[in-house]
Amino acid sequence: MMVVGKLKAISNESDSFLYGKFPAGFKWGAATAAYQIEGGYNIDGKGPNIWDVYVQQPGNIQDNSTGNVACDSYHKYKEDVNLLHNIGANSYRFSISWSRIMPSGSNTTNPKGINYYKNLIGELKKYNITPMVTLYHNDLPEQLQRYGGWLNEEIVDLFAEYARVCFREFGDDVKYWITLNEPWGTASLGYGLAIGAPGVWGPGTNTYIVGHNMIKAHAAAYHVYTTEFKSFQQGEVGITLNVNWFEPLNINSQSDLDAQDRGLQFLFGWFAHPIFANGDYPDIMKALIRNKTEELTPGSPSRLPTFSPSEIRTNKGTADFLGLNFYSSTKITSRVNHCNPPTYDCDSDTFKEEDTSWNGQSSPSGLRKMLNWIKREYNDPTVYITENGAQDKTGTLVDTERINYMKHYINEALKAIKLDNCNLKGYLCWSLMDNFEWISGFSVKFGLHHVNFTDPNRTRTPKASSKFYANIIKENGFLM
Ligand code: NOJ
Repeated sequence: MMVVGKLKAISNESDSFLYGKFPAGFKWGAATAAYQIEGGYNIDGKGPNIWDVYVQQPGNIQDNSTGNVACDSYHKYKEDVNLLHNIGANSYRFSISWSRIMPSGSNTTNPKGINYYKNLIGELKKYNITPMVTLYHNDLPEQLQRYGGWLNEEIVDLFAEYARVCFREFGDDVKYWITLNEPWGTASLGYGLAIGAPGVWGPGTNTYIVGHNMIKAHAAAYHVYTTEFKSFQQGEVGITLNVNWFEPLNINSQSDLDAQDRGLQFLFGWFAHPIFANGDYPDIMKALIRNKTEELTPGSPSRLPTFSPSEIRTNKGTADFLGLNFYSSTKITSRVNHCNPPTYDCDSDTFKEEDTSWNGQSSPSGLRKMLNWIKREYNDPTVYITENGAQDKTGTLVDTERINYMKHYINEALKAIKLDNCNLKGYLCWSLMDNFEWISGFSVKFGLHHVNFTDPNRTRTPKASSKFYANIIKENGFLM
C-alpha cells in the first residue's frame, strides 16, 4: 500500500512523505573503499599507493592521521561482513586496492593480496551478500604516479590490464563491477586544485587531461569485460559519478536555469555524456572551454582534449548501469563577474550561491530531481545509488541527524521509483562504518557503526542509524 502523508518539518523544505515498499529485489547495503578502511598498508606484499605517500607530508591531513591502520579491515573483514549481515544488507560495495594485488601497478600480481579479496568475497557469499566491486577508488599505485599517473595516456592500457586481472580472479563471484569512483574528484581535486593525492596542481589543464584518460580507461575496461569475460561470467560493468543537485537561485530567471544546466553538465555530464549519451563531451563544455583558451593564447587548441571519431565510438554505451554518489544540493546562479584570466573554477561560469545540505537533512528532494534529470538526459539508464549518507564530527551513537537524513533521502528515492518511474535498482549507504575521510582524516564520521580508532582492536559499535536502516531493509521500504 502506498500512502502520501504530510510531513511536518524537514528543515527548510516542506514536502510530503511517501509510505510504501521498494520493488522486490531492490539492492540494499553499504559502501566502503580500500584505503579508507583496510589498513595493512605495507604488509603481505602490498605496494605503496599515492595516498600512502600523500599522508606522510605533514599538513596534508587535517588531524595528521593516516590510513596505515584505518579500520584494520584487512584483518577484521569477517567482522565487517557480520555487521552487514546484522543490518540485513543484501549488497556490499567495496573497492580493490590496485597496489595490493599488483604492487607496482602492472605485470606482477601479489597472491596474498588476491587472496584477501577472495576471502572477503567468500565470506560475503556465506551470508548471501552480493559484492559490488569498485576497481579504482582514489588509490593509484605509487609506481604509476612516478610516470605521471592519470596524466599519462599509458594509464589507459595499464588500467585495462589491472581490470583484466580482477575480472579473471574474482569474476566468477563478482557480477557488479564499478570501474571508477568519482573521476571528477581525481581530475579536479587530485590533479587540479591539488586537494588530496597526488596533490598535483593544474586546474584547467591537467584536470581535463586526467578526465580524458579516465573516460578512456573506463571504456577500455568495459570492453575487456564484454569481449573476454561477459559471455561466461554474465556480469555488469558500470561507473560511479558524483553530483550535487543544482537548484536555480531564481527559478524564473533564464540565466539561472542556464547556470543550472552548465553546473550539471560540467560536474556530471563531463563523464556521463561520453559514456551514456553520444560518446563525446557535452556541447556546452566544448564551447566554453575552447572559447576561454582563445582568450588565453589565441589560436591554441582547446584545453579540453578531443576524442577521435573512433574513440567516440569506443566510449559510447560503455556502462550497464550508472552508480550515483549523491549527498547534497546547491543553489546556483550565473556568475556576475566573469573570471579573468579564465580558470577551471569558472569554466562553467556558474556561481554556487549556497550549499543547501550535507550535514543535515535539508533538500533531500534534490535526489529525486537528479534521478529524474538522469532519466531524461540519458534515456533512462539503470541507476544504483552507490553512496549517500550524512557526516558528523562526534561519531555519536545516538545519531538522530543521520537517521533523519537517511529517512528523507531514501524516501525521495522511493518517490522517484513509485511516482516518476525512475529506473533505480539499489541504495548503498556511505558508510558501513566510520573511516578515514581523506584530507579530513578521522575528524569526520559517516558510519552506521562507530569505530574506536584509539583502541588497537578498532572495536565497532552499532549506532542508532544502523538499527533504523536495518528496519527499512527488513520492510523493504516504509510502513505506515
Ligand atoms: C565520496 C567518496 O567516494 C568517498 O570516498 C567519501 O568518503 C565520501 N564521498 C564522503 O565524503
